[in-house]
Amino acid sequence: MSLLLKRGKVFLDNKFVETSILIENNMISKIDNELNNAENIIDCSNKHILPGLIDIHVHFRDFGQEEKEDWISGSKAALSGGITTVLDMPNNNEPITTIEKLKLKEKLVSEKSLINFGLYIAITEHNIEEINKTDLKYVKLYYGETTGEINPGKVEKIFKNLNKDILIVAHAEENDIIKLNKKNYSIDEINFHSLIRDNKAEYTAVNFLIELAEKYGNRLHITHVSTKESMLLIKQAKNKGLKITCDSCPHYLFLDNSMYNKIGNKAKVNPSLKSKEDRKALWEFLINGDIDCICSDHAPHTFEEKSQEYNKCPSGFSSVELSVPLMLSSVNKGKIKLEQFVKLMSVNPAKIFGLKNKGEIKEGFEANLTIIDLEKEGIIKGKKMISKSKWTPFEGFKTKGKGVMTFVNGTKK
Ligand code: NCD
Ligand code: ZN
Repeated sequence: MSLLLKRGKVFLDNKFVETSILIENNMISKIDNELNNAENIIDCSNKHILPGLIDIHVHFRDFGQEEKEDWISGSKAALSGGITTVLDMPNNNEPITTIEKLKLKEKLVSEKSLINFGLYIAITEHNIEEINKTDLKYVKLYYGETTGEINPGKVEKIFKNLNKDILIVAHAEENDIIKLNKKNYSIDEINFHSLIRDNKAEYTAVNFLIELAEKYGNRLHITHVSTKESMLLIKQAKNKGLKITCDSCPHYLFLDNSMYNKIGNKAKVNPSLKSKEDRKALWEFLINGDIDCICSDHAPHTFEEKSQEYNKCPSGFSSVELSVPLMLSSVNKGKIKLEQFVKLMSVNPAKIFGLKNKGEIKEGFEANLTIIDLEKEGIIKGKKMISKSKWTPFEGFKTKGKGVMTFVNGTKK
């Protein structure tokens, strides 16, 4: 089977070049403007062809939580947004903390997933040696309240003993500060969420983790950064030459805590939404190239769960299918260049996480591609979402630019 993607604007060597791509035996066999013949031909004029987009932070649930999402609905949602690879978090019903559990999850996911995937293992003080014996490239560190007991001593042990080439991907929120804030407020509604999980909780944790990475020489990636102060620390660390990278998510760029009154508990997420000022600062860091990746932190919950009162309402929302149209809207508004969007959502994720044959369009690579139409307009509506969780804090947002076709390992999806 041969397929020709004819005359698209193809992302090659960090810029767009008008050319054609021949796919044979699932591989990109040739990139050339003069290609004309193939069994199937798709006209790509006026479309951009990008290396398959990568979301390095999703929660596709399943395994006892399929009412929220499963790997079929999750991967369909990802594809509809133009994402061809996801890295899935380990906070399943039964957290993935051993290689045995990771292998079992890998087997089950590979039977269901329609897209490329990678799976995180949650690192604890108990599995460091086990992880060191594997060729795992990245681990998830919950330095926060999400998955139980972790404290500074345990975290130091992890940084000290983990193989230095393994990337530590950290959720950074200081538990003691969150606890103290909870004591200080009689919390009963969403406006308190940003006071409990405040800027200090995040930047204190970020500061501590960077200090450890410096002391022991680790590669550290701070995920879902939400504050200006954390970004300043990360920028300083990068300037010092430390191996620190980071990402943020569309909700920290398009939403802020002044919107709680309008959105309500649907905007409850960890880390919390921050102020307008933080949001504005995050855009500046993004534009300056200080933020390495954009990910969704797709964290679906059912409408019923999310309709409960603040204290019972779980944190997170579904967004794997929304990050591409939201970010492309910013490209259309001239906030970031399309080339930078590709860096944030494909080139850098592939580099930082060591994802083979990804993040680049190259002869000899498996064909993982996302075709986008920058002109395609839409309005975000929860009811129309592909994810099982059919509600969104982005309800009514207008978008311009969309993934319109994807190829996963040579197969059109
Ligand atoms: C995550 C989830 O629901 O799995 N929720 C979220 O708000 N990001 C868990 C978490 O990271 O706290
Ligand atoms: Zn998450």
